[in-house]
Amino acid sequence: MKALERAVTIADLRLLARRRLPRAVFDFIDGGAMDESTLRANEADFGHWRLMPRVAVGVAERDLSATILGRKAALPLMLSPIGLEGFFWPGGEIAAARAAAKAGVPYCLSTNSVASLEQLAEAVPEGERWFQLYFLRDRDWMHGLVERARTANYRVLCLTLDLPLQGKRERDARHGFTMPLKPRLKTMLDMACHPHWSIGALRSLPTLGNFQTSDATGFTSIAQHVVSLFDPSANWDDVARLRERWKGPIVLKGILHPEDATKAAALGIEAVMVSNHGGRQLDHAPSAIAALPEIVQAVGGRAEILLDGGVRRGTDMAKALALGATACGIGRAGVWGVAAGGEAGAARALAIFKTEIDNVMALLGTRRVSDLTRDHVRARP
Ligand SMILES: Cc1cc2nc3c(=O)[nH]c(=O)nc-3n(C[C@H](O)[C@H](O)[C@H](O)COP(=O)(O)O)c2cc1C
Repeated sequence: MKALERAVTIADLRLLARRRLPRAVFDFIDGGAMDESTLRANEADFGHWRLMPRVAVGVAERDLSATILGRKAALPLMLSPIGLEGFFWPGGEIAAARAAAKAGVPYCLSTNSVASLEQLAEAVPEGERWFQLYFLRDRDWMHGLVERARTANYRVLCLTLDLPLQGKRERDARHGFTMPLKPRLKTMLDMACHPHWSIGALRSLPTLGNFQTSDATGFTSIAQHVVSLFDPSANWDDVARLRERWKGPIVLKGILHPEDATKAAALGIEAVMVSNHGGRQLDHAPSAIAALPEIVQAVGGRAEILLDGGVRRGTDMAKALALGATACGIGRAGVWGVAAGGEAGAARALAIFKTEIDNVMALLGTRRVSDLTRDHVRARP
């Protein structure tokens, strides 16, 4: 696709996604909670740091690879879990996971995916696959999902802790993009005006693949069912029990307070993901990049630290890595790619990050990802 080839930045991909998607669907991806203050801060707060280059280092040869939870990745990057990705592009999860596998980076499948965890594993057996889990009221079902992830060879379990219930997402409420769906006439017209998306979506109405049951097959009823399944009572004892159940690496996602990161490390959790769910949960929570330094200090190397939220540029990646993250996760940046052009769009997003981090590392005077240190950033005066 010519337009994809012309996309030079993640912002370009966002515009392509906006063109293809009905506004309600685009806003579901783009939006955040309440005043969207945290959503904006995630991007803006990267600007609070400046990159400090070193010169005459000799950067003709560069190695962009990183070891994430004991496995080599081609880039210090992973695709964060995205619910309903297959709703934005037919087979969206498989498209994104294929692009990730080809680019040599991990893909994390959401509990709320359209493709089931088995379908994804079958379609992309070669990829480094993680599975994201929410605490569900029905523990038997939740443990069933953990078992299915193990059987389907997902290597890492990513437990999202910042969603005891859903944040107040007002763009969705205005569009009637809530569960159950209450589309307004305007939204229906909007869908009619975006035939490329609508034809794909209507041809095979997406379901939530991991929640297929004989009594709940419709998309709306399943989605409603899932929302009602989140368990707001989950606590650290539940995390400890899950630790015992899953022998592979665990990532706790949605950590912002340094003491929560310390608790995770004390439980033998392999990684924490500094994240505020892309500003979709608690508004006015700190941005991910602002929360990172304290967490790095508190954890003191006892667990790996991943970060997502507002990562749009190689410069953002370099700042997070310099401040102590092992790798960055991308949410919207990858989804905009998928929504703009399926696998090719996701591949384009990953290629943009690769080009940018390579360029930034060279200009910073760093040959390897591990060369990026705290000394490469300065707080902006
Ligand atoms: C459309 C959309 C769906 C998401 N679904 C999930 C999900 O199912 N599970 C989860 O842990 N996080 C989910 N997230 C949050 C992302 O994993 C990630 O934390 C966030 O998008 C990072 O911020 P960024 O979009 O600015 O990169 C979702 C984010 C978006 C935009």
